[in-house]
This record gives sequence, structure tokens and C-alpha cells, in this order.
Amino acid sequence: MTQQNIASRHTELARPKRLPRYTSYPTALEFGALDGQIYDKWLKSLPLCKPVSLYFHIPYCEKLCWFCGCFTTISNKYEPVRNFVDILKQEIISAAQKTGPLKVSHIHFGGGSPSILEAADFESLIETLREHFNIDDVDEFAIEIDPRTVDREKIFAYARAGVNRVSLGIQDFNLKTQQAVNRIQPVELIAQTMQHFKDAGINRINFDLIYGLPYQTLETIKSTIEQTLKFAPSRIALFGYAHVPHMKKHQKLVGDHLLPSQKERQAQFDLASKLLVTNDYRSIGLDHFALPEDHLFVSYDQRLLKRNFQGYTEDKADTLIGFGPSAISSMPDGYAQNIPVIRTYMDKISAGQSPVVRGLSVSKEDKMFRDVISTLMCYFEVDPIKIAAVHKINYDFAKELSMLNKLVAIGYMEKIQSLYRITDQGKLYLRAIATIFDQYFDQSSDIIDRCIHESEG
Ligand SMILES: C[S@@+](CC[C@H](N)C(=O)[O-])C[C@H]1O[C@@H](n2cnc3c(N)ncnc32)[C@H](O)[C@@H]1O
Ligand code: SF4
Repeated sequence: MTQQNIASRHTELARPKRLPRYTSYPTALEFGALDGQIYDKWLKSLPLCKPVSLYFHIPYCEKLCWFCGCFTTISNKYEPVRNFVDILKQEIISAAQKTGPLKVSHIHFGGGSPSILEAADFESLIETLREHFNIDDVDEFAIEIDPRTVDREKIFAYARAGVNRVSLGIQDFNLKTQQAVNRIQPVELIAQTMQHFKDAGINRINFDLIYGLPYQTLETIKSTIEQTLKFAPSRIALFGYAHVPHMKKHQKLVGDHLLPSQKERQAQFDLASKLLVTNDYRSIGLDHFALPEDHLFVSYDQRLLKRNFQGYTEDKADTLIGFGPSAISSMPDGYAQNIPVIRTYMDKISAGQSPVVRGLSVSKEDKMFRDVISTLMCYFEVDPIKIAAVHKINYDFAKELSMLNKLVAIGYMEKIQSLYRITDQGKLYLRAIATIFDQYFDQSSDIIDRCIHESEG
């Protein structure tokens, strides 16, 4: 079937449901009410000998970026943040009472802007963590940084606390774009911040960049990437701007008329990607790039890469305990999410109640499909029959293979014995292809229509 045939077919058919990004499977869209006691039971059953990962959600920022799609609150005063840190410590203590002093392999502070915490508060939070969990031997301790909120003192406090990876929200170096999204951060600020990290001995650096923002053109994208290359971060996340003003009201401040078209967005991504790849970065999954020395690059080669709530990770632990409002825990038996409303979250913790409100238990089959989808999202290829065998499940994938074969016929995939690999032409449709294995996804729409839907953004 030609591209043109596909397009005309599409006009006749209903638009399929929004495509998930598969940072988990089943996705958070499938979560229902979950009793906190179930989560407590999961916590109590974790073996002390197996390392776990910890995620902390800090839901505060100093200033609103108009493009922001994250779960955060703007706080002009520091006091609410300090009170929040006290509550977070209580959540740590309460979880540790159920788990015992688990060994931790990965720590991630996300948000919002974890860098809003004052140095003393961050250090005392980590002290509490150290008293209740074994964090002496973590592989990675990462924190997301809004460069406008850090100084030398904070950066040295991170190093003392054990932080060894930082993720800097750069977004774009072009002033006109920065003005249009209410996020002005001169390149000099980034240069100074990078110097402080170097001096403090923190050299695993990620940059977050966004394409599809107002006033971005191929020229400005090129200059942002060239500037990025001068800083040589070991890892880059290149996100497409997700404009959802019906869900994030403040995004209305980003004028729709200023946004590049889908075709322009694609050209921006392609250009950025090409520039990065010709400068030694490897493209990883949907939106990541890494230099050869980066752990993501190495774990990609070792086939150890996984998909998680932060995007892609080399983390080997099968358990992630989430702290803070909206944080999701991923346990061997299921997912559990804390209440997102900060006030209610704080009240619940103060009252000694579980902050968990939503989640899902996962079945043996869910785990198999999770493995299939995660492999596709990480490696653009999958051998579902092999994965079923590893999971000791007798499943013939009849429906799924017929859809994959349809994609083989139009050149979006190729079949090598029982392995299905997405071709360069099909890479644009990764999420649509992953829906084939999503047992919760409404499978009534045609797979080709899902692909077209994805390419339209
Ligand atoms: C929690 S923020 C990172 C830390 C800090 N808050 C900052 O912005 O510097 C996570 C990242 O999500 C990305 N992001 C936020 N809103 C987005 C949106 N609407 N579309 C695409 N990416 C977005 C940005 O690149 C941002 O750096
Ligand atoms: S992009 Fe980052 S700094 Fe900006 S409002 Fe969102 S979470 Fe805060």
C-alpha cells in the first residue's frame, strides 16, 4: 500500500485513541483505585538482599515555564518547600519501617525542580535517607536541575551527598524562544553552572532539549545543537513539545499560531538528530542520545536498557519506590501511585496514612507484554515468541503477528526468522507499533491508521 493510499484511507476511519509513551506497562491510564494496604504489603514483601531504586518527586518551581507539562506548583516563598521536605522525611521513615534498610542502586530526584531545595535541606533529607536505607553503594544518584536555581554552594552540597548525575533543563539557547515560553537562561549561566559541576567532580551530565517550540526554525535548532555540542553533555533527551492546553491551562500562554507545523517539527527533530549522530552521539530509543562513555550507551550495547518513568534507564533493579505527591512506585507485583494533591498528600503522611490512591496489580501475562513492549521501545525490534518462552507462557501471538506482518508488507518492519525489526521508514511509528502488544489498548482501529495518527503528532 502506498503512502497516498494510506492517507486517503485515514480520512474514512475514526481517529484511534491517543498513543501511550509506554514509560510503564500497563500504562498509568489503566490505573484504578488501589488500597494503600496492598502497597504496604508489597513493601513488606521486598527481600532485603535485592537492590531497589528510589524516586523522589519535588513538586515545586520558582517560576512557571509556559510550555511546562510536568506536575509542579509555583511557590514564591520557600516555607512551603521546607515544610514539604519535613513530610518527605516522614514518608521515607514510614516506608523504611515496612521494608527494612534496603540496599539502593539508583536514586532519582525529579519534579518540578528538585534544585529548588536549599543546600542544607537537601543534605538533611539525604541524611534521613542514609539513616533508613543503605545508600552507601549506589550506582547512580541523579537530580534534575533548573540551572536558574543552583549556585556553587548547592552544587558542592550535591557532590557531598553523593550525587553523580545531573540533568539540566536547557530546552533551547535561542533568546526569542526563551522569551516566548517565559524561561530566560543565558548561555553564560549554563557555562558557569557546568564549571561548578566540573569543579565539584560531577561529570555525568544530561541536557534536556525541546523542539517544536515557538520561533524555533531549522537555523535556531542548528545553533542550539552546536552550542550543546560545545558543552558535550554525555546524554541528551530531545523532547518534542507536548502542547496540551486543555490539560495544562497555562500552555494557552504559548500562542498556537507560533507553533511549528508537524512537518516542521519532524524536520527539526531530524536535523538535531543528524547533527548529534555525526558528532559521536548514538540515538537511543524515541528521544535520547548518548556519547560512548555514557552508561546508557554501554547498557544499550549489553542489551540491558529499559524503559521507565524517566524515559530510558540502565537501572537493573526491578523495584522502584516512589516518594512525594504523584510519584509512582513500580513493584514486582504492580504499580502504586501517591495522591497528586500536595495538601492532601501532606495531610495523609502527617496522619500516618498511606499516600497511595491509585495503581494496578500486574499479572504474569502483563509482565510478558511489558517485556515485549519495553524491548520494542528500547531496541526497535522484538522476538515475541522468544520472550514468551523466557516467561514460560504458551501464547501464539496470532493477532499481534498478523498486524506485524501487515507492517512488514508495507516496509515499516522487516522479519528475520522470528525477529521483527522496525525499518528506518517505520521508526516514526514506534509507539503505534507498540500498541499492537498492549492488551488494554482498544484494538478496533487498524494498525496502519494508528501509524498515520502517530505521524500527525
Ligand atoms: C521536571 S523538568 C526538568 C527540571 C527542571 N524543572 C527544569 O525544567 O529545568 C523535565 C523536563 O521535561 C521537559 N518538558 C517539560 N514540559 C514539556 C512539554 N510540554 N513537552 C515536552 N517536554 C517538556 C523539559 O525538557 C524539562 O527539562
Ligand atoms: S519546565 Fe521545569 S522549571 Fe519549568 S515549570 Fe516545568 S518543572 Fe518547573
